[in-house]
Amino acid sequence: MEKLLISGGKPLKGEVRISGAKNSVLPILAASLLSDEEVIIGNVPHLQDVTTTISLLTEMGATLSIDEKMKVSINSSSMKSFYAPYEMVKTMRASILVLGPLLAHFGIAKVSLPGGCAIGSRPVNLHIEGLKAMGANIKVEDGYIIAKAKRLKGAKISLPIATVTGTENLMMAATLASGKTVIKNAAKEPEIIDLANCLRLMGASIEGDGTSDITIIGVKKLSGCNYDVLPDRIETATFLVAAAITKGNLTLTHTRPDTIKVIINKLRKAGAQILIKNDSINIEVKSQLNAVNIITNPYPDFPTDMQAQFIALNSISKGKSKVVESVFENRFMHVQELVRMGADIEINGNTAIIKGVKGLTGAPVMATDLRASASLILAGLVAKGETIVDRIYHIDRGYECIEEKLTKIGASIKRLPQ
Ligand code: EPU
Repeated sequence: MEKLLISGGKPLKGEVRISGAKNSVLPILAASLLSDEEVIIGNVPHLQDVTTTISLLTEMGATLSIDEKMKVSINSSSMKSFYAPYEMVKTMRASILVLGPLLAHFGIAKVSLPGGCAIGSRPVNLHIEGLKAMGANIKVEDGYIIAKAKRLKGAKISLPIATVTGTENLMMAATLASGKTVIKNAAKEPEIIDLANCLRLMGASIEGDGTSDITIIGVKKLSGCNYDVLPDRIETATFLVAAAITKGNLTLTHTRPDTIKVIINKLRKAGAQILIKNDSINIEVKSQLNAVNIITNPYPDFPTDMQAQFIALNSISKGKSKVVESVFENRFMHVQELVRMGADIEINGNTAIIKGVKGLTGAPVMATDLRASASLILAGLVAKGETIVDRIYHIDRGYECIEEKLTKIGASIKRLPQ
């Protein structure tokens, strides 16, 4: 397995261009299955999860091409199969996003249940119950969700939890259903709005995305479109923390500062100087930051996808801090690895208590999921000596050209072959 070797201690300085958002492009790629016409997607990040989704769509028979700028064109009029096998879904849970579009457009879908995950049990019962409320006939057999429907019918769906991919699956399905669907307690993440913007360009009638009540009036057909994906707010925030943890000075371009207000506020509270200009953010940190307390919750609150990175930052900041993980039940796997690097962190249920230390020391560590990998890389960037991060395939799922981007701003980081 490939590893990353990091020699820490260098302040990061310069400019980073932020890539398209992983959690936008995945549902938007799935949305292409709703139309018989060509859907062209721009600002697509070069990520393993994108490659997996593209393989899934082509194996189902979609016609797909990618140009040198990672513009992806998809035509699903050539679809032959409506099947997402376990081998694919187990490597990427977001494969579940094809369920709603397949059912709504082709009336049939067989999608593997995703199974467990390193950050929590992550069931998809709400996706299934919502589609059933829209009239789908769904059974779970031999680990697969087998779904059929003539034409889905609009329904009022109240989600007990504001699930992100659940909201996306139901919103996509409802675009081709007959009548009106209302999703109550919908997720409000910027990626939901991005998907809705793309669907509207395809001719869907959607209102209320970005609030907790989304209303969709089904149409008979959706057309093709040409759509650019939103910048990645989690990549942006991760680079802000990279500047903060190394006491650097970075300008992040091609981003959307309005999607990470809560992160910017936390970093300012910690003592970072941050300047915002339209689509760019400059961060400068000159001295050790103060630790900040965090409670993760759905958007617009503090994102669970930044919890691990802020634990790394807090571990070398001044003072004692408390980080509460409220979204997933088991998302502290990075903590023991950070402790191996000299961090002082205790876990008590869903709360991490962090006592800031003067510095971290390099060590061999193991990444367990995407954001845990980011947290270990951040720790490695500031640690004294060498850090080797193992199981780096996780990072390739969600951060485009991470070593190239970090090297360009002064980090000493290189990939070690298998
Ligand atoms: N949940 C259920 N039943 C369901 C669906 C969700 O109980 O049917 C629970 C989950 O177990 C979890 C909570 O609801 O405790 C929220 O999960 P959600 O469904 O919102 O998560 P997701 O849609 O599976 C997306 C992102 C994650 C991100 C979460 C939370 C994508 C492709 N994935 O996952 O991204 O952490 O929302 O914001 O959009 C990442 O990028 O590293 C990542 C894990």
